[in-house]
Amino acid sequence: MDHNKLALPVGTTLDRFIMRKQEDFPYATGELSQLLRDIALAAKIVNREINRSGLIDIAGAYGNRNVQGEDQQKLDVIANIRFIRALRNGGEVCTIISEEDDEKIQTGNVQGKYVVAIDPLDGSSNIDVNVSIGTIFSIYRRVSPTGAEGTDQDCLQAGTHQVAAGYVIYGSSTMMVYTTGNGVNGFTYEPSLGEFFLSHPHITSPKTGTVYSINEGISEDFPEGVKAFVAHCKDQHFSARYIGSLVADFHRNLLKGGIYMYPATRKVQNGKLRLAYECNPLAFIVEQAGGKASNGFMRTMEIQPIGMHDRCPLFIGSTELVEKAEEYMAQYANADAEAVK
Ligand code: AHG
Ligand code: MN
Ligand code: MN
Repeated sequence: MDHNKLALPVGTTLDRFIMRKQEDFPYATGELSQLLRDIALAAKIVNREINRSGLIDIAGAYGNRNVQGEDQQKLDVIANIRFIRALRNGGEVCTIISEEDDEKIQTGNVQGKYVVAIDPLDGSSNIDVNVSIGTIFSIYRRVSPTGAEGTDQDCLQAGTHQVAAGYVIYGSSTMMVYTTGNGVNGFTYEPSLGEFFLSHPHITSPKTGTVYSINEGISEDFPEGVKAFVAHCKDQHFSARYIGSLVADFHRNLLKGGIYMYPATRKVQNGKLRLAYECNPLAFIVEQAGGKASNGFMRTMEIQPIGMHDRCPLFIGSTELVEKAEEYMAQYANADAEAVK
């Protein structure tokens, strides 16, 4: 270990980084910066809840009410409440689409210029077992005039219109990774200081990799194109890595190289993942890092959403691997189309 490194200053805080970036845009009003800070603050609070979730489950340790005097709820509901509250109090957001709410949420901030789509807690099957989970968010500028509530049109924009997107991973350390369309940067949370610090500047997606991530337990239900691509990965002696938390699987492959897939299956014909708050934000990030995201046939970010909770198949990660998967999907497209009839 390089002991000299210990003498280095801890580095740039997320707040300072966001502020500096804002200086790059001379006419920026600072609202987007404030919005990103609101999200980071809610992430710290959620991080705290996650860290002590094991204790809260022990009967009597905290009682039936949490320290805020609210009834105990599942972590994904708690995370939803935290993020919505932060976005509402911040004032920059007029409307929120959340995985946890069927209808769009009007914050009451009719002057807010932004719309946020959020998966407050991703990786629900891993919440209670101390495995990495996350938060995914996507930010759009509203298209309707300010002064009134956000509209369906504001909420149904294609991913290419995102102005920022990011995720928080609550893992062996907690990180926030985001883009505003000018590269991707990662920040690690320092709990004793209560701050995120720039730890992963200019994240780039390796062109290729040797990891594939897919739920192979349901491989019988995969399209033929996916089966053939998975066989190809095995021929190449790739490693299989699948945690079952999209954020964690994506994050690993982003840093190390690899591909994550959630295809259409016989059971879920449009895949399982949601376009607005799972696929699009990660697609924006991966593209900004030099990678690729697709539904197997077209660029994820160009898909026109019809409903706020639309699902779509996802192939995401290193460019060469996503392109290879697309080749197989095209090759078997006719056979797969026949099979769903
Ligand atoms: P969420 O917890 O937000 O509902 O998302 C769960 C998603 C995603 O995180 C993960 O990759 C996928 O579901 C796992 O699904 P399977 O269990 O079907 O593999
Ligand atoms: Mn999710
Ligand atoms: Mn979720």
